[in-house]
Amino acid sequence: MSQSGSEAALRAQELRAELEEHNRRYYEQDDPTIGDREYDALLDELRALEAEHPELVTLDSPTQKVGAKRLDRFEPVEHAIQMLSLGNARNADELNGWLDRARSHLARESIEVDDFSYVVEPKIDGLAVSLRYEDGVFVRGATRGDGVVGEDISQNLMTIASIPKKLSNAPRVLEVRGEVYLPIADFAALNERRAAAGESTFMNPRNSAAGSLRQLDPAVAAERPLAIWAYGLGEVEGVVFERHSQSLAQLAEWGFPVNPGIATIEGAEAVVQACDGWLERRDELPYEIDGAVVKVDDFELQRRLGTVGREPRWAIAWKFPPTTATTLLRAVHWNVGRTGHIVPFAELEPVSIGGVTVSFTTLHNGDDLARKDVRPGDQVIVLRAGDVIPQVISPAPHEVDRPDRSEAPKVPSECPSCGTATVRVEDSVWTICPNKRGCTGQQWQALRHFVKRGAMDIEGLGDERLSELMEAGMALTPADLYTLDWSQLEDRKGWGSKSVEALKASLTESLDRPFAKVLYGLGIERIGEVNARSLAQRFRSMEALMAAEPAAIEETPGIGPIQAEVVAETVREPEFIELIDKLRAAGVQLEESGPAAGEGHLDNKTFCLTGSLPTLTREEATERILAAGGRVTSSVSKKTDFLVAGEAAGSKLEKAERLEVTVLDEAALLAMLEA
Ligand code: IVH
Repeated sequence: MSQSGSEAALRAQELRAELEEHNRRYYEQDDPTIGDREYDALLDELRALEAEHPELVTLDSPTQKVGAKRLDRFEPVEHAIQMLSLGNARNADELNGWLDRARSHLARESIEVDDFSYVVEPKIDGLAVSLRYEDGVFVRGATRGDGVVGEDISQNLMTIASIPKKLSNAPRVLEVRGEVYLPIADFAALNERRAAAGESTFMNPRNSAAGSLRQLDPAVAAERPLAIWAYGLGEVEGVVFERHSQSLAQLAEWGFPVNPGIATIEGAEAVVQACDGWLERRDELPYEIDGAVVKVDDFELQRRLGTVGREPRWAIAWKFPPTTATTLLRAVHWNVGRTGHIVPFAELEPVSIGGVTVSFTTLHNGDDLARKDVRPGDQVIVLRAGDVIPQVISPAPHEVDRPDRSEAPKVPSECPSCGTATVRVEDSVWTICPNKRGCTGQQWQALRHFVKRGAMDIEGLGDERLSELMEAGMALTPADLYTLDWSQLEDRKGWGSKSVEALKASLTESLDRPFAKVLYGLGIERIGEVNARSLAQRFRSMEALMAAEPAAIEETPGIGPIQAEVVAETVREPEFIELIDKLRAAGVQLEESGPAAGEGHLDNKTFCLTGSLPTLTREEATERILAAGGRVTSSVSKKTDFLVAGEAAGSKLEKAERLEVTVLDEAALLAMLEA
């Protein structure tokens, strides 16, 4: 429906103001309140209005610019060659439309091509940068800015280890363009750390990368494990490439990270398949992609196709559905964790994000909840990236001013499980239930943790069975599981003699679990699987650990002073001592039977695992390395001796190659284990 001139003028003004505000939040504050989709919808509406009423177009309309104003904090850098933007296609039809247009454009130029080669790349959701090298030396790095002028962020880019600082056999001038990003796992860890420290969390990996690169203090940027994928060239002097694929191969040769999944594809049909392939693999990738980019490979054809506005005709982005969604926050509930922490979680109107339905998700802690200011009844923005737990990010922007908003939820003054008055822990974001011995909520979580996979792995004790045992007063602590009154169980409804026999068998089997698993299963605060293993390897027995002073515990690899303090405190608590006595009587392993660290034939060598191995699961490989006296870490560093790489190995493999860490496949690992 067309609007009258004055209505249209008013609406255009409104849209411009809104878009400018969103641009400001996105580019200057790295803190957007709406997702790409919603932003695009506003921009599309303004474009349509301006198309219908050309008199409304202003020179500074957001439709006429690529991005927003650059920041004044960094020196401006004029790009020798503009940093372009990309047109979008949302589905196969739109992609085919672009392919047809490109072909007929060339036909009009009398270039008869049936079809040609394309390069299909992941569209990395990070921040575009341009790196300039003169005579092989890195001289400057800049953000895209508005495409013409960006910001000089050389200092921060220098902190990214995978960006080469010197090139051999380089041309006179070389500008490399690529996307800086923060791997999803590092983003999640960063947000967790920030939430725990009472700082604001980032909305998504893109924003955390952008926020990190725009740090005025390079030391802060250096602490964030940023990475880069190179995907193109800017100004080049002294070398000529015929094809984009050829230039990417040369970039890899010079040492730039070039995504190994980039493929050169013949013919339009296969292009659609290749894009679909990226969509399918999206969740398995350790970094966020928001689409696939298709580029015409031949530089001469690219030149002929040229650009319209700021978008090349020779490339297009196939945008994937967003990983954020807006939904209703039905309620905020509170739970007590196994170590007494009172944790809020969100009950959401079920919403599908990237093919997964999200109904509940954690809200971390009371402080984080207060900072985000999401309230029951709000429409909220939820992010789901990779296989990381979904996060509630913020209220939808219009909610904040709604007059009839509900009250902000408060951390309960009584434990939601046992009713004991809660206690705020000084200098932390936590409120806890101090009723360690008698809180059913804590007991329940502790039991669940003890029996779960990775810990004692006791089959046949799902949530339902466990709560039945608890409610009947038959099992309140892990030790009770080993002294169950079986006759009483057999009489209970739903527990046939078969399931009782099976449970008996899995409990007996759990007596063989190594000490490290038992230690992990005990659920000591801040002690995860890896730390439990290190402690077990170092102290070799529960007895030794229980006698250890914090200083000695801190000498364990991976254990910091706070963790050491917590462990020393926990193992001295009367409840803990009593539990250990009972577990010992039940026959649970409280001593390490494998070789001590450094005693096996792998001699304390450090391994890191990445990708999926053909036969071993990651857990099995880890177990076997540890059993042979090796160590397993989660990230590659100079101290890593071997990287065991399987299918779809990602950034760890690149890092290992850069640091010249020996890379093994599964066969080589097995040979080493058997040696
Ligand atoms: S090519 C003309 N390739 O997407 C070519 N861009 O909307 C311009 N991006 O600013 C860029 N991955 O930040 C290209 N493989 C890729 C990309 C990619 C991510 C970003 C980049 C650019 C934006 C375009």
